Amino acid sequence: MIQKTPAEIVLIKKACEITRDTLVYAKSLVKPGISTFDIDKSLEKFIIDSGGSPACLGYEGYPAATCISVNDVVVHGIPSKDIVLKEGDIVSIDIVVAYKGYHGDATRTYPVGEISEEKAKLIRVTKECFFKGIENTRIGDRIGKISHAVQTHAESNGFSVVRELCGHGIGRKMHEAPSVLNFGKETDGPVIVENAVLAIEPMINAGKKEIWMLNDGWGIITRDGRPSAHYENTVLFTKNGPEVLTLEKDDEHQPR
Ligand code: MF3
Ligand code: CO
Repeated sequence: MIQKTPAEIVLIKKACEITRDTLVYAKSLVKPGISTFDIDKSLEKFIIDSGGSPACLGYEGYPAATCISVNDVVVHGIPSKDIVLKEGDIVSIDIVVAYKGYHGDATRTYPVGEISEEKAKLIRVTKECFFKGIENTRIGDRIGKISHAVQTHAESNGFSVVRELCGHGIGRKMHEAPSVLNFGKETDGPVIVENAVLAIEPMINAGKKEIWMLNDGWGIITRDGRPSAHYENTVLFTKNGPEVLTLEKDDEHQPR
């Protein structure tokens, strides 16, 4: 696990601010009738106008600036003119911004108009999983403390945790060690060091945990066709506790 220097943390924080601002802008675009292609194009421009660059574009050949995943698509949905949002959908928008060689990574799942009670609960519980994962986690604890809290909260609400995908260290590279699993024991994984930066990202299914990959080689969907939600932030671990670098300014979980 990489300990970031103060100079690196300044750049990561700036990348994370652009990431957060892009997600806030994305929320304003989400409405029935817009295609995920049009959302992606607007977000790409927003990121560049903000002084960042969209790190997903070209990453291992990924063809778009952002990942936009609707309903039963868990992650890595490729934006498309043929995917048009409609009332009742949920849409996960995953943004990775590079700024002066450093990265910020965050995801939100937004409702499109009025959604079912089940989908609303899924979005709420997925966000709660993230905060349960960090609320009691401090430097010196193992990564598994996050993993265990996420899994416990998801399953106690009747939902399931995707096993094949996980969070990660982040900094100079989008994906660094360690992996941050969303399931497991408190004693699993490496010890969290001071000034570690981790992307923590519960991916929670309303139904069963099993997934498929789409034929495009990117999109991941639930096997049972039921919806999935995703909530991700980039988090800095300091002596004073975890600091969520991609949190909206009006979120209820502000640092004290
Ligand atoms: N944001 C994703 C993550 O959390 C990565 C997107 S894959 C990419 O790991 F190819 F689109 F970059
Ligand atoms: Co990530």
